[in-house]
Amino acid sequence: MQAGATTQGLSEKSVVPSPTSSTQTAQRIGVPREVFPGEKRVATVPEVVEKLIKLGFSVAVESSAGDAANCSDDTYRAAGATVAESAAALWSGSDIVFKVRPPSADEVALMREGQILIGFIWPAQNPDLMQQLAAKKVTVLAIDALPRMLSRAQKMDALTSQAGVAGYRAVIEAANAFGRFFNGQITAAGKVPPAKVFIAGAGVAGLAAIGTAAGLGAIVRANDTRAEVADQVVSLGGEFVKVDYEEEGSGGGGYAKVMSEGFQQAQREMYAKQAREVDIIITTALIPGKPAPKLITAEMVKSMKPGSVIVDMAAEQGGNCELTEPGQSVVKHGVTIVGYTDLVSRLSKQSSTLYATNLFRLTEELCKTKDGIVDVNMKDDAIRGLTVIKNGEVTWPPPAPQLPPQQAAKPAAAAPAAKKSSHGHGAASEPMAGSKLAIMFGVAAALFWLIGASAPKEFLAHFTVFVLACFVGYMVVWNVKPALHTPLMSVTNAISSIIAIGALVQISPITSAMERPNSLITWVAAAGIVLTAINMFGGFAVTQRMLAMFRK
Ligand code: NAI
Repeated sequence: MQAGATTQGLSEKSVVPSPTSSTQTAQRIGVPREVFPGEKRVATVPEVVEKLIKLGFSVAVESSAGDAANCSDDTYRAAGATVAESAAALWSGSDIVFKVRPPSADEVALMREGQILIGFIWPAQNPDLMQQLAAKKVTVLAIDALPRMLSRAQKMDALTSQAGVAGYRAVIEAANAFGRFFNGQITAAGKVPPAKVFIAGAGVAGLAAIGTAAGLGAIVRANDTRAEVADQVVSLGGEFVKVDYEEEGSGGGGYAKVMSEGFQQAQREMYAKQAREVDIIITTALIPGKPAPKLITAEMVKSMKPGSVIVDMAAEQGGNCELTEPGQSVVKHGVTIVGYTDLVSRLSKQSSTLYATNLFRLTEELCKTKDGIVDVNMKDDAIRGLTVIKNGEVTWPPPAPQLPPQQAAKPAAAAPAAKKSSHGHGAASEPMAGSKLAIMFGVAAALFWLIGASAPKEFLAHFTVFVLACFVGYMVVWNVKPALHTPLMSVTNAISSIIAIGALVQISPITSAMERPNSLITWVAAAGIVLTAINMFGGFAVTQRMLAMFRK
């Protein structure tokens, strides 16, 4: 489609049909260079350009848009994109514009009626920008407004992909500022203890930080006001440190709420203790629409060992640490406090690639016909959620999402029910109504009596073993945490290879000559032994590998 494309201004070929026009010509996606100071990301990468072209679109990229993310103009051209010399040419020649940051005033001025803009917009924080965009009669899809609770939306969730990168980079920044190894080592020159890392807030960024720090060999502890993340912390190699105060921290939608004064006091005490013990603190605590909670006081910083490091990821929202200076790395009381607000941009190739993939997945949803023409379908929950302006009409905030009936009807009692369960099975273990239970027991007892009275003796012996096996199996599975069900299945699969004994008996020299089967059966038994051995040893090996993922 774009074969032989050369560097050129697009202005002379910018007579592209407006998205509102009735002609069904494939649309052009334009990717300008980000203008926000220090922003190194780009909204699409060459690998994704090829996929967009396969969806029927043509793609134009502003010259040098990808330079800071290691994507040169030539790599875009090789992928089939056209390179536009200027921002003006790019914007005027594009039906759809992919961006990372919200557009600047100059960029808004370049927009034209009917264009579609996709990128981070933050409509709640940018009401003026929303008005300017609406006045331009454009359509705006804010990737930050995606309804994240829809499982279908996960592939488009740029907030998650970018926060994951930030969490990883926060650990790298901490390691850079820290004067020691993360892992413990015993060398000829002496013993080095592992670094102790405390992560405040185990959302997307916090969990990524836990995994990265644990991977580097540190001892990782983490705390969050939402108790439900404790299992995730453990599964990533961290230890969940609880606040000694009973209060549910979930504010709905997977986000936190502001905690009571009593809880905050107990939390401060626990954090003060951690500050004295650990070498590195990474804070990621955030409550949507509120300033970041102040969790690390100046006193706590003073109590830390000299050479310790704090990375305050919430710096942009005011910081979780009292002494953070947003955008800066400073040393106070011998502790390095990193308050960078561009952690994602510091890993620009990775974050651009993930972001580009998120936008590609969104484009797939917008163009199911694969003909290069976008359909902003407001009946689709995910698309409706992130469409904040449609043809100049502000459509934000969206109506509350339609939950499936059982989810919508679930009363607040669901949470206590989940709490009561000692196995973490939550609502699934809600107690059965008393009368129903009594009827079930009655029927089962009558059935057992009938079998006991009428069945032959040999059958009864086998039946008793069968019932006991069912009971023991049920108790074992029920008491294993859901996260460990896969390794449990693989180990039971390995144990099932006990059937190898049958095959062994068939070819055993102990079997008398009279009973010895013919050679065909011997060969089948030998094959059976080989296969069950693979199942047995493979099953145990896989179980070990899976369990290793949970161990620290
Ligand atoms: P998130 O909302 O998924 O996670 C925040 C976590 O903090 C939640 O698990 C919440 O329960 C927890 N939390 C809230 N109040 C708390 C408290 N008082 N004590 C303990 N935990 C508490 O947010 P996400 O996406 O993980 O981002 C985390 C932070 O990192 C945000 O502040 C975000 O703006 C920031 N961020 C910073 C970047 C940078 O370059 N500096 C880049 C990307 C994200």
